[in-house]
Amino acid sequence: MHFSIFTLFPEFMKNFFKYSIFKRGVQNNIFNYNVHDIRKHGIGNYNKVDDYCYGGGSGMLMRYDVLKECYLKNAIKSDNSKTIFVSPRGTKLDTDLVQDLAKLDHLHLISANYEGLDQRFIDRYVDLEVSIGDYVLTGGELPIMVLINCVCRYLENFLQCESLTEESFNHHLLEYDQYTKSNSFEEKVPLVLREGNHRAIKQWQHENSILITFLRRIDLWKKHPHQRAEIEKIKDYLFREYGE
Ligand code: ADE
Repeated sequence: MHFSIFTLFPEFMKNFFKYSIFKRGVQNNIFNYNVHDIRKHGIGNYNKVDDYCYGGGSGMLMRYDVLKECYLKNAIKSDNSKTIFVSPRGTKLDTDLVQDLAKLDHLHLISANYEGLDQRFIDRYVDLEVSIGDYVLTGGELPIMVLINCVCRYLENFLQCESLTEESFNHHLLEYDQYTKSNSFEEKVPLVLREGNHRAIKQWQHENSILITFLRRIDLWKKHPHQRAEIEKIKDYLFREYGE
């Protein structure tokens, strides 16, 4: 996977790749990246990158001509690449979308600051607009970091496979409660986990996961494929955990 990032804050973006698992990901050739400074293509002595909009309003938009030049000079388009503009107007990022993006070879990621981006660039070059949630940030750098962070987790050899199969949102369920083995708090750890029966532990984890999803995220629960059978399990679980 290759990430090409277009931003007004290249140093801020580059820092993301300098630490921890992302640094190792680059060192181990699991993915690679380039960061392109849009301001280098700005107009005039002050490298102007924004302008007022048709229709008035106080906000400034990133200019079409400036971003277009930066993009055309640096983009590497192929059949298996996509150009994404991160914006609150986009498709909401979720696990299904992340998994689809992780199958591509190359992502071009565009960040706009100010009030947004000239629609002509979006219409001509952007394949997909992606939002990381229903709130507005001052720029696209953090959304790009979020997107790269979760896409990387699905790249081969980036994580141990088990971390992916056991994590939240698999089969539309949230993750079960987890406890460390430290003895000082042992009294608060459910008995079944301490007893060490592997099969019983798996069952408890699954049922706990169903309960947490049911209580906290009914929208996810509604997508879960085996609701009726699972409801019976929660009843048993509740009775065992809290019944007399
Ligand atoms: N840029 C500003 N806010 C955003 C959001 N919520 N998602 C993606 N990009 C953004």
